[in-house]
Amino acid sequence: MKGIVLAGGKGTRLYPLTLANNKHLLPVYQKPMIYYPLSVLMLAGIRDILLITTPEDRPRFEKLLGDGRAFGIRLQYAEQEKPNGIAEALLISESFINGEPVALILGDNLFYGQGLTTLLRQAIRRLDGAVIFGCRVKDPERFGVVRFDEQKRVLSLEEKPKKPRSDFAVTGLYFYDRHAVRYAKTLEKSARGELEITDLNRIYMQKGKLSVELLGRGFVWMDVGTHQALHEAAEFMKTIELHQGFKVACLEEIAYYLGAISKEQLLVSASKYKNNEYGRYLLDIAKRKHIYPYWEAPFEPRADARAE
Ligand code: G1P
Repeated sequence: MKGIVLAGGKGTRLYPLTLANNKHLLPVYQKPMIYYPLSVLMLAGIRDILLITTPEDRPRFEKLLGDGRAFGIRLQYAEQEKPNGIAEALLISESFINGEPVALILGDNLFYGQGLTTLLRQAIRRLDGAVIFGCRVKDPERFGVVRFDEQKRVLSLEEKPKKPRSDFAVTGLYFYDRHAVRYAKTLEKSARGELEITDLNRIYMQKGKLSVELLGRGFVWMDVGTHQALHEAAEFMKTIELHQGFKVACLEEIAYYLGAISKEQLLVSASKYKNNEYGRYLLDIAKRKHIYPYWEAPFEPRADARAE
């Protein structure tokens, strides 16, 4: 499965923060925002990733993430000239996707919760059509909204409805089978002038090929598009990290646990950041006798990982 991270747009809701900066490079506590969605794709087991951003911002992402080698992924870049909608990402990525299934994640969506990796991997294994992820929110009218029945059959999908028919927002993470690009080509622009991802999902729904996975109350999902949300996300990540002593979305750590980078590669990153706590965290991981203790296992252990 291929992966796409969408990190374009002007970020006007975050002006003046985003006048000279791409939104997805803003800090969420200790890391650039883009680390969080990237970590989700990595945890899902995806290694081939395309990052879509504006022509202007592309060099900044390349400087930050390079070809992805430090994180054990193959990262490529593409450009979205204008904010023509999320579904356009699939058209831009056609040659990259190359007829395979694809996961699309929005660069300002943060996911956190025990069992996320298992949920993602199961959804990929069972993929038959498309999968969206629903999360209960207090203000569904701000999002795509999904209504479903007791068997989790999707009954309706609406984009930012004035009168939401459920409390479940559609999060910015989507899994598609190999037909997504073909369907995306049939979309027409919405009233706000965008190719809507909700319209693509509705095509799958009408074919009876859309399933919804629910993020229960143990999960946190944040769309970090406003000043308040950005601040809250940073506070949340800081609280989790300081209490637990584990980092969220530490890409080098995830790559090492997945067996996607070697201890030597981890040490290179640790020394790059040796002047701060991030570097010391990586160094601590590299120095361990075993990859991780069993109670810390974030996913099925890599072959050479053993319980302490
Ligand atoms: C987009 C989607 C919406 C979804 C949201 C999640 O909204 O159109 O369906 O719920 O992302 O972050 P936008 O960010 O374009 O307002």
